Amino acid sequence: MPAGKGTITMTVEKDIKPGEARCPGVSVQDLLDKDSRPVPDYLRQQDYEFLGDEPIPYQRYTSRDFFDQELDQLWPRVWQWACREEHIPEPGDYVVYDFGPFSVIVTRTESGDIAAFRNACTHRGTKLREANTSGSAVNFRCPYHGWTFDLEGNLTDYMCEWDFPHVDPKEYGLDPVSVGTWGGFVFINLDPDALSLDEYLDPLPDHIESKIFEDRYIAMHVQKELNCNWKIASEAFLEAYHVMETHSQLTGASGDANTQYDFYGDHVNRLINVAGISGSYVERPLTEQEILDSFLVGDSGDVSEKPTVPEGGTARQVVAQSFRDLAASTGTDLSAFCDSEIVDSIAYFIFPNQQFFAGVSFPIVYRFRPIGLEHDRTLFDLILLKTKPSDGSPWETAEPFQIGHGESFAVVPGLDPYIANIYDQDTGNVAAAHQGALTAGRSGATLANYQEVRIRHMHQTLEKYLGL
Ligand code: FES
Ligand SMILES: [Fe+2]
Repeated sequence: MPAGKGTITMTVEKDIKPGEARCPGVSVQDLLDKDSRPVPDYLRQQDYEFLGDEPIPYQRYTSRDFFDQELDQLWPRVWQWACREEHIPEPGDYVVYDFGPFSVIVTRTESGDIAAFRNACTHRGTKLREANTSGSAVNFRCPYHGWTFDLEGNLTDYMCEWDFPHVDPKEYGLDPVSVGTWGGFVFINLDPDALSLDEYLDPLPDHIESKIFEDRYIAMHVQKELNCNWKIASEAFLEAYHVMETHSQLTGASGDANTQYDFYGDHVNRLINVAGISGSYVERPLTEQEILDSFLVGDSGDVSEKPTVPEGGTARQVVAQSFRDLAASTGTDLSAFCDSEIVDSIAYFIFPNQQFFAGVSFPIVYRFRPIGLEHDRTLFDLILLKTKPSDGSPWETAEPFQIGHGESFAVVPGLDPYIANIYDQDTGNVAAAHQGALTAGRSGATLANYQEVRIRHMHQTLEKYLGL
């Protein structure tokens, strides 16, 4: 039995202030000291402070009234990525992005710019395009009475003008939605006067070069419905505290309780979860060679031969170098990337519902959105990115593959079974978390001061949006 399971070890030091305690042993920063390359400043930053230890009210997940407040005060004012630029390469290409009851058409205009509009006719509100669809259009014509809008959203044609003397076509264009791009992602914000995307994402664009994500494409896209509130789903991916129990198979070769957590302003927080070390509570830490052997299980498709750890070396260094060599063979230069940037999970959360993983070896993106008016159902988008071939050979953006709430990720074509199992484990917890919140005998959820601070940070920003 791994140490720490079934026992409570009283290691809390009395004189230490709340939030100051850290997992004993090796830290992320200790590991960065051993990196084979210079480590960029953004990884050296530690930006944590104690944010309090009050319970998070369960009612925030279970109450329809609270969900209504979010629909009123939160979702119309936040930036979220709706699609990739390559989804709409030509004028008229469009994507419909739905979250909760809201729906947005994102399109490429005649001039080549990207525009977005509320997906509602300005006559009597009919939805112009179906939810979560995409296609190519010369204009957006309403199926009800035929009001027609050009790609810039202008009302260009409507029947029986004589009956609408009160309608000035200039005032009846589609309602505009703010648009911005970063990293090849197209972000939207229902608020036409929103804070700029750059300000909202700060400091992500300073930490991670936009080009790193621009050079990638969606190689796999999985959508899974989850029977829980959207925040419960998102929170399952905001901390590594659950790794020891939920993903106990990972603890041999993956950091858990020593993960670093940081937050910046209202909209951004991150974790650095190191790979290639034994978990903090394993009974017998693995040797570097054993770590390397298990490390490669999840990446077996990407590393052609099993290397060995040289005397004095580490599994992290070997894996990082394997990726550098593999990339070089396909014309991609990773020589400037430090080991951590290649092997670790460096995950940036952008409020309220999305995460971008900057690591080279496993670049993924998460997004969580409510389904329609249901406060207890969530659509989880899992995106796996790949680097666009540098030799100009073709690549194709993957279409979403949908799985039901009871289905395993194992049915997703091309998804490594080892990875599929991890996502089954993660999504396996969330319905129970929602159901437990409904029957709990206490008012709210308890959070770890450090390891779960990203959840508290998210809630404190939510409070600001809702005026709580
Ligand atoms: S509702 Fe769109 S044309 Fe009437
Ligand atoms: Fe997990």
